Amino acid sequence: MLTGGGDCPGLNAVIRAVVRRGIRHFDDEILGVRDGWAGLIENRLDPLTIDDLRGMLPRGGTVLGTSRTNPFRADGGVEAVFDTVERGGIDAVVAIGGEGTLSCALEFHRKGLPVVGVPKTIDNDIGVTERTFGFDTAVTIATEAIDRLHTTAESHDRIMVVEVMGRHVGHIATHAGIAGGATRTLIPEHPFDIAEVCDSLNRRHGKGRWASIVVVAEGAKPKPGTMEIPEETRDEYGHIRLGGIANLVAEQIERRTGIETRVTVLGHVQRGGTPTPFDRVLSTRYGVAATDAVHDGAFGSMVALQSDRIVTVPLEEAVKDLKTVDDQLWDVARQFFA
Ligand code: F6P
Repeated sequence: MLTGGGDCPGLNAVIRAVVRRGIRHFDDEILGVRDGWAGLIENRLDPLTIDDLRGMLPRGGTVLGTSRTNPFRADGGVEAVFDTVERGGIDAVVAIGGEGTLSCALEFHRKGLPVVGVPKTIDNDIGVTERTFGFDTAVTIATEAIDRLHTTAESHDRIMVVEVMGRHVGHIATHAGIAGGATRTLIPEHPFDIAEVCDSLNRRHGKGRWASIVVVAEGAKPKPGTMEIPEETRDEYGHIRLGGIANLVAEQIERRTGIETRVTVLGHVQRGGTPTPFDRVLSTRYGVAATDAVHDGAFGSMVALQSDRIVTVPLEEAVKDLKTVDDQLWDVARQFFA
């Protein structure tokens, strides 16, 4: 079992569930792979026991460690993974991760590795599952932060710009924006026009003391030609290194409206600490189902949540398209914009 990509609240709960189901129900021997795919390349594996995972259900992060290493981009990486699998007598790999990790899992499945995926990411952008674990925790943290920002914003009659995670999609921003009563939410799916955003804030503040909260997903983009943004840098998976859009937006808002504006970037706070009860339950269900999928020989599949049931879906389907914010939900969010 490995955990890849960014860490996420609920990872330890999945690991615990795989170990518990595997050892108790199937008499499996479970190996924990250190640091994602890197550990399979470098043959860094440790046996996991039920005792090793005691007390880990509510703990954030991952006891296995994680990395964004992509064996398909590392010299000899793929061969090294197969070598480790053969030497270790490994019958199956449970890969817990987001889009990058699951895409690797699919590639390995195509090359004959028996693999089952578990959808993890606070971004909630994996298709064919209604939820990835970690998302509920991130939304809870972001909403609490927005609630806190409301009172300080009101005291000073300021605009608060809050940046939340979400590189390609605005699920966290949309949910936390609705839950926290945002004045405006900017998400990657709907490029914004900064002039229009400022006009609406001006109109609102012109009516009296109306502090505003603007929630910005880190991947939010201005409409082409409306605002300058710096060049992108990318990681090993080709992911854009994000962060900073809130500062650019806040700068423009303050300059164009003349209203005092402050920025809060929530960053990795959204990924740290204990998972919510919802995420603990979801992670546990995923872990049990992934172990069962291994024993059913359902390789090349991913466990998923559909209509509150855990099902298995082809990995191919899961990584085909990123799940974007549903139009109906976005329409609800928009009803509350300034
Ligand atoms: O894994 C998802 C995520 O939290 C994104 O929301 C964010 O853009 C990215 O990871 C941050 O990655 P890193 O921890 O490598 O800075």
